[in-house]
Amino acid sequence: MNEVAPRPLLLTAEIVQEILRGRTRVTLDLGLSETTITLEGGAVIFPDGSRVKLEALHRILKRPNVVFMLIDSEPRPLSLTNDHFYKLVPTKGAPTLEIDGVRMHRTKGTTPEKDAWEKVRVLGVRGGRVLEIGTGLGYTTQATLNAGAEVILSLELSPAVLKIARLNPWSRRIFTDERVHLILGDAYQVLPSLRSGFFDYILHDPPRFSLAGHLYGSAFYAQLFRVLRPEGRLFHYVGEPGARYRGRNVRRGVINRLRRTGFTRILYHREVRGITCMKPNL
Ligand SMILES: C[S@@+](CC[C@H](N)C(=O)[O-])C[C@H]1O[C@@H](n2cnc3c(N)ncnc32)[C@H](O)[C@@H]1O
Repeated sequence: MNEVAPRPLLLTAEIVQEILRGRTRVTLDLGLSETTITLEGGAVIFPDGSRVKLEALHRILKRPNVVFMLIDSEPRPLSLTNDHFYKLVPTKGAPTLEIDGVRMHRTKGTTPEKDAWEKVRVLGVRGGRVLEIGTGLGYTTQATLNAGAEVILSLELSPAVLKIARLNPWSRRIFTDERVHLILGDAYQVLPSLRSGFFDYILHDPPRFSLAGHLYGSAFYAQLFRVLRPEGRLFHYVGEPGARYRGRNVRRGVINRLRRTGFTRILYHREVRGITCMKPNL
């Protein structure tokens, strides 16, 4: 599971604008580092030797919400289609992932990596064993590593998501840090096989309620409660404040079900649209 793809050369409309202005030190990994390119005879020569005509770069300018990857000297959108449509989208910081047009990270007034760090901060991770539901691009996984997690088991349903993560320079560490264990599967199916009381923290970062209702239900919460150790803590992303599903307030429903499951110290954190709570030591 933990293997990384070769480093792709990535372009966005913003980077192309810089190239067309004549800049030759640019980022080809979405802002993490800079590389030198050569402008020559109406084309750009990239560090891997690929030669791309300026006309081809002009096409990128028309699609500011797409990350492009150079494949055989041809810029191609970094997207995948199976039953769903997955696309990497540039932001001011780390890129976000859209699944069927729905963003998997908050980008308004924040960046995906800042939001991930805030989630881990409110969870209060200090060392310990972490279970994560929804690997996505691995930003919360990496924030958890930065907070000193000793081991993190991260569950992701979609192979396409992990394929995109492998091509995203901002996700690299989840494939290289040996403390991270990635499992491909439905968390709902995987959780019953995990050991009781094993985890110090759970970071539950599911898609919104309307897309993954079973990850917000009492049966799933009973499993989260079981695998957490006494005094272990849970963070649960619940979506936009006031979000409703079939006329019911999602956050209120989550809080009621967590309380009925046995969780205590239930707190809503507006800044990260999530709830923290604790398994009591009875
Ligand atoms: C909001 S994103 C997670 C973002 C991630 N924590 C990050 O920092 O990039 C939710 C993720 O949960 C995954 N997912 C959806 N249903 C799932 C399930 N039943 N089990 C595990 N993962 C699931 C989605 O494919 C998606 O990648």
